[in-house]
Formats: sequence, C-alpha cells, structure tokens
Amino acid sequence: MKPDIPQRYGTTTRFLHWTMATCYLFMFATAIAWNMDESLKFLTNPHKAVGFLLLILSAWRVMRAIRQSSNRPVGSMAAKFGHWAMYLLMLAVPVTGVMRQITQEGQIHGVLAFSLLFLSLGHIGMVVYHYIKGESVMPRMFGRA
Ligand code: HEM
Ligand code: HEM
Repeated sequence: MKPDIPQRYGTTTRFLHWTMATCYLFMFATAIAWNMDESLKFLTNPHKAVGFLLLILSAWRVMRAIRQSSNRPVGSMAAKFGHWAMYLLMLAVPVTGVMRQITQEGQIHGVLAFSLLFLSLGHIGMVVYHYIKGESVMPRMFGRA
C-alpha cells in the first residue's frame, strides 16, 4: 500500500476518493430521479443505506485528511479552501439526512446536498482547467505519479 506523499495521493486516499465519488453519483441520481417521477420514491431506501455508508466513510476520510495534511500534495489557498469546504459538507449532508429522517421535516439536507453537488462540479471544472493549461493534477489521484 502506497502512503500519501507530496507528489501524489496514496492507495487509501485514492480508494476513498473514487469509491465515494461513485456513491455520490448514485445519491444525486436517486434524489433527482424521485423528484422527477413520484413512482420512483422507493429509491429513498437505497438512498438512505448508501448515505449511511457515506457518513462512515466521510468520518474516516476527514480524520485522515487532518492527520495526513503535511504528507499530501500542496495546492493553492483556493484549492485548500475548496477541499475543506467539501470535507465539511461530506459530513454535514448525511448528518442532516439522518436528522430529516428522524424529524420528518427540514429543507437543510437538500440545500447542503446541492451545495456539495455544485462544489464537486467546480472541483471537476478545476481539474479540467489544470489539464488544459498543461499542468494536469490527475496523476496525483489516478495512475502513476
Ligand atoms: C452524502 C450523502 C447524501 C447525499 C449527497 C444526499 C442527497 C440528497 C438530495 C440531493 C436530496 C433531495 C433534496 C430535496 O429534494 O430537497 C435528498 C433527500 C433526502 N435524503 Fe439524502 N443525501 C445523503 C444522505 C442521506 C442520509 C444518510 C439519509 C437518511 C438516513 C438521507 C435521507 C434523505 C431523505 C429522507 C430525503 C427526502 C426524501 C423525500 O423527498 O421524501 N439522505 N438527499
Ligand atoms: C469525475 C470526478 C472527479 C475527478 C476527475 C476528481 C479529480 C481529483 C483530483 C485530480 C484530485 C487531486 C487534486 C490535487 O491534489 O490538486 C482530487 C482531490 C480531491 N477530490 Fe476529487 N475528483 C472527482 C470527484 C470528486 C467528488 C465527487 C468529490 C466530493 C464530493 C471530490 C473531492 C475531492 C477532495 C476532497 C480532494 C482532496 C483529496 C481527498 O480527500 O481525496 N472529488 N480530485
């Protein structure tokens, strides 16, 4: 298993990044699907199950990010701020999901979830922007570096 080093992210960080990105795709696809078509409301069950898994994975990921911060690739202040905003939302979104489940009310879960979606799209936009500029950051998270 490769550790995180300033030149690239290691095995565990990459595993968490890509597993969770796939889960987020599922979470937004299910939520958008049932909002468009009432008969798909049954998707709330897998949504809650995968959301709970994401809550556990987020706790692991954020704890690692705190402990490993000095061993990881260094980005601009904007990149650092963006990553920490995503970590915060990764925790807040499933927590408010569970709260919504218990209290049966509250719009905050949806608002925070869509904020995470827009931040992630901005994040992907920045990855593409760096690639176009000829200074790709992709090898830090995928493939060899
Ligand atoms: C990171 C994980 C999660 C993401 C990205 C996410 C995303 C979303 C989104 C985008 C919506 C639609 C919001 C709206 O229509 O206002 C939603 C609704 C909902 N989510 Fe989540 N969610 C997550 C975790 C959870 C968890 C852990 C639970 C509960 C255990 C949960 C329960 C719900 C419920 C009950 C709704 C409303 C369903 C309805 O319209 O009746 N979510 N979620
Ligand atoms: C196709 C989708 C995605 C691509 C191509 C991608 C690509 C990358 C790359 C190349 C890095 C390294 C950046 C650097 O060191 O400067 C990175 C890091 C990161 N990405 Fe993504 N990403 C994607 C989806 C997501 C999603 C959906 C989230 C969160 C919801 C996310 C959150 C993060 C975070 C927090 C980091 C910092 C390191 C870590 O904790 O994993 N990414 N991503």
